[in-house]
Amino acid sequence: MAPKICCLGAGYVGGPTCAVIAYKCPDVQVTICDLNQARIDAWNSDHLPIFEPGLDDVVKAARGRNLFFTTEVDRAINEADLIFVSVNTPTKKSGMGAGFAADLAYVESATRRIAAVATSSKIVIEKSTVPCRTAESMRAILEANSRDGIRFDILSNPEFLAEGTAISDLMKPDRVLIGSLETDEGRKAQATLASVYSNWVPKEKIITMNLWSSELSKLAANAILAQRISSINALSAICEATGADVDEVSYACGLDTRIGPKFLKASVGFGGSCFQKDILNLVYLSESLHLPEVAAYWHQVVIMNEYQKSRFSQRVVKRLFNTITNKKVAVFGFAFKKDTGDTRESAAITLANNFIKEGANICIYDPKVEEPQIAIDLAETGISTAEYQKRVTISKTPYDAANGADAIVICTEWDEFKTLDYEKIYATMNKPACLFDGRLILDTKKLRAIGFQVEVIGKSV
Ligand code: NAD
Ligand code: UGA
Repeated sequence: MAPKICCLGAGYVGGPTCAVIAYKCPDVQVTICDLNQARIDAWNSDHLPIFEPGLDDVVKAARGRNLFFTTEVDRAINEADLIFVSVNTPTKKSGMGAGFAADLAYVESATRRIAAVATSSKIVIEKSTVPCRTAESMRAILEANSRDGIRFDILSNPEFLAEGTAISDLMKPDRVLIGSLETDEGRKAQATLASVYSNWVPKEKIITMNLWSSELSKLAANAILAQRISSINALSAICEATGADVDEVSYACGLDTRIGPKFLKASVGFGGSCFQKDILNLVYLSESLHLPEVAAYWHQVVIMNEYQKSRFSQRVVKRLFNTITNKKVAVFGFAFKKDTGDTRESAAITLANNFIKEGANICIYDPKVEEPQIAIDLAETGISTAEYQKRVTISKTPYDAANGADAIVICTEWDEFKTLDYEKIYATMNKPACLFDGRLILDTKKLRAIGFQVEVIGKSV
């Protein structure tokens, strides 16, 4: 009989991941739960809580058939054979390890809930990104709190999807990792989960390994990806100072098959909910293991990212005659990357904050991010309500945002920015009209021919 699945956490990972399982395995009942009623209501509506290309079709095909969204967590736990724990693991804000360690309070509370309500044996799957050996703590909690005769097996099954391409990543993953204890029961649980994925993932891409390797592989993959971006961004600073062109350097390096071309695009800095969080988590883990050199090595990836954002902000101010006080700066894009409405750790937040602190009036346009989110993000950086009201405007079109502006700053690489009518935009701007391309997406020659003063990350003027 096909196993029943429950997922705790209906966020960016739990939602799409388990929706795809339901879509690909019509025999498997999948119930996705969350404590947040508004989020569940949105999953049950025509306006899903997250924007992700292809997600609407997957949810529409499976919802009500074998895919359900609910806040009835206890019932969903009890009905399931396999339980994904896909709750948030943010960086701790206070206490031991504040600013570095992952806050495991949500994982622990979800685990305790499973132990408290389960009346039959379960396979509990760590889907959240967690520090190495978290599964051990989860197992201890489950075993200490379970009823007689009930068995819990723990698996680690980290998620590698990227936002904006989540559905295609889930449909055709590079690999699926399943870590387990090296016991007969562990291997049996591993095989049960593998049988779910094998409905659509080729066998050779389903990789089994020990629990700790699986947990660490997730942190390692994110750290290595982010390290590549920080490496190219560090080189972008050298390019700007020497006349080398970062796109050319990246192309030349990427042609080496040992290096490869992906994740070598210079930018205004990486964002997203995970890269920084997971590297800081790795730094904390290294320090806890008394490996200060290892900790310092990984920490530098995040430090370089902060440097890139501040370097780019300074370049904008410098180019605008060393002051942007009361000038209008149009910010194009607020999401941390294209094709998502997610703004977590977006470089645009830091840049917007820097511009406001310099006294600029900023006008933000993003096709998927709505005003309340922008207000929350800027408030979290310390922008007061009064400052926000005085200095920030949200535009419905990029043309409105740029109207009367002294500068445009491209923060997110939305495709639509490539095909705007820049002649029309130029005509409405203050002169000299500056354009700062923080994503290397625009045709600099064309823009200069129109009359723009153009500055691009990783290229000298
Ligand atoms: P999220 O904040 O979007 O979603 C987490 C959800 O869990 C929230 O809706 C929250 O209300 C819910 N929740 C918390 N405690 C709960 C409980 N006890 N029972 C039921 N629901 C509960 O987070 P996310 O972006 O989906 O990330 C989840 C995990 O996956 C994190 O560990 C993250 O590092 C990892 N991850 C994220 C991505 C990504 O692209 N966002 C990719 C891979 C891995
Ligand atoms: C990243 C990883 O790519 C996923 O494999 C992983 O599952 C996920 O983190 C996670 O654990 O949360 P995501 O953050 O959604 O996915 O998006 P990415 O495509 O990795 O982009 C992250 C940031 O790096 C974005 O701000 C993006 O613009 C930036 N980036 C990416 C660059 O600046 N240059 C590049 O070459 C690539």
